[in-house]
Amino acid sequence: MAEISGTAKLPPSGDKHGEAGERLWVIFVTAVIVLLVAMVVYTSVHWGFHPPSQVETIDSTSLHKGGEFSEANLGTVIAPDGSALVRVVAQQYAFIPNCLVVPAGKPVTFRLASADVVHGFIVQGTNVNAMVVPGYVTTVRTTFRDPGEHLMPCHEFCGIGHQAMWARVRVVEPSSFPTDAAKQKAVNCAS
Ligand code: CUA
Repeated sequence: MAEISGTAKLPPSGDKHGEAGERLWVIFVTAVIVLLVAMVVYTSVHWGFHPPSQVETIDSTSLHKGGEFSEANLGTVIAPDGSALVRVVAQQYAFIPNCLVVPAGKPVTFRLASADVVHGFIVQGTNVNAMVVPGYVTTVRTTFRDPGEHLMPCHEFCGIGHQAMWARVRVVEPSSFPTDAAKQKAVNCAS
């Protein structure tokens, strides 16, 4: 009995040393929180990073049976105003198509769906960064300023072949954008 009451004893009141230590911790933790919030605000405002907020569901088990993410729809479709809509399926362990072609200087909307597990969608050198969660459509809007090529690795561990899952995004001048108007099909640069 004496032991228990001994260990549970609070420091005597007026323990200036203990109070000062706690006050330091309060200041330190508050500073860390303020710093983290400041980083979130800075990246979201300065770099345009933001989590995709659109919640749109889809049946991930039947993507191959047709609908928006059927094979003929995968790739890039150019709207009359020059903007691009790119549809991609992410699955273990590839993006389909594995080379996306988009016009420079025009608004680009990516729509992705996963056929199995969670994958990551990032276009290196840009602010495009999102997760592709089965059951949901991931929509990301951006504009690529300059022509060039970007790597697009899966950055969400998705299984044994995760490290081999990547694609490319090729940004071209709108004037040299490949068209497949005759077939009315989405275009890509996959080999
Ligand atoms: Cu798909 Cu990692």
